[in-house]
Amino acid sequence: MQLSEFETHQAAEIQALFDRTFADAEGPAEGELVGGLVRKLMADTAPRDRLGFVALEKGRVVGGIFFSRLTFDSPVEAFLLSPVAVHPDHQGRGIGQRLIRFGLERLEARGVTHLFTFGDPAFYSRVGFMPAPESTAPFRLTQPEGWLGQALEGHEMASLAGVPRCVAAFDDPAYW
Ligand SMILES: CC(C)(COP(=O)(O)OP(=O)(O)OC[C@H]1O[C@@H](n2cnc3c(N)ncnc32)[C@H](O)[C@@H]1OP(=O)(O)O)[C@@H](O)C(=O)NCCC(=O)NCCS
Repeated sequence: MQLSEFETHQAAEIQALFDRTFADAEGPAEGELVGGLVRKLMADTAPRDRLGFVALEKGRVVGGIFFSRLTFDSPVEAFLLSPVAVHPDHQGRGIGQRLIRFGLERLEARGVTHLFTFGDPAFYSRVGFMPAPESTAPFRLTQPEGWLGQALEGHEMASLAGVPRCVAAFDDPAYW
């Protein structure tokens, strides 16, 4: 398996991966919702405000992950990890966790100081996330216990101030 930053010629394949994986996991409506989000992240979000990575097997995209900027009043480089998908035929082989770790390393190398995500704490704690204060989320959360964060080497959660803002692609309560 090969991990790399996504390239625009892979957009249709990445789109199909997210549509299929989330429809399979949580039904067609969720497939459409997350598929729409991925489309906006790839097509409408400034490259400086989002990063995406793919897992390739035999040249085919089998996993994908996106990170997008969260802006605080404090001068931090904060990003949100969401969404991440591994094709149903390839799940449970460690690809998801490798993809997340790869993304975190690349972001840290670019000076990112804080990361957030929402999801199952049991899964994301394996890659360094811990429960984060709800005040660090840009929207009211339907499941506040799933809001998670981590401060990267040499930084602290306590250094964050003010109300966070997300990129326009995430500016919809349906995602939160
Ligand atoms: C979540 C996902 C990305 C994980 O990728 P993966 O390659 O299957 O995961 P890994 O093989 O690295 O890790 C597997 C472990 O994570 C657990 N896990 C997988 N998906 C999980 C989920 N949605 N919630 C909680 N735990 C999950 C598995 O039970 C397994 O645990 P085990 O090692 O104790 O058996 C993948 O299952 C997926 O695409 N799911 C559907 C979409 C989704 O829910 N995305 C996350 C929200 S954005």
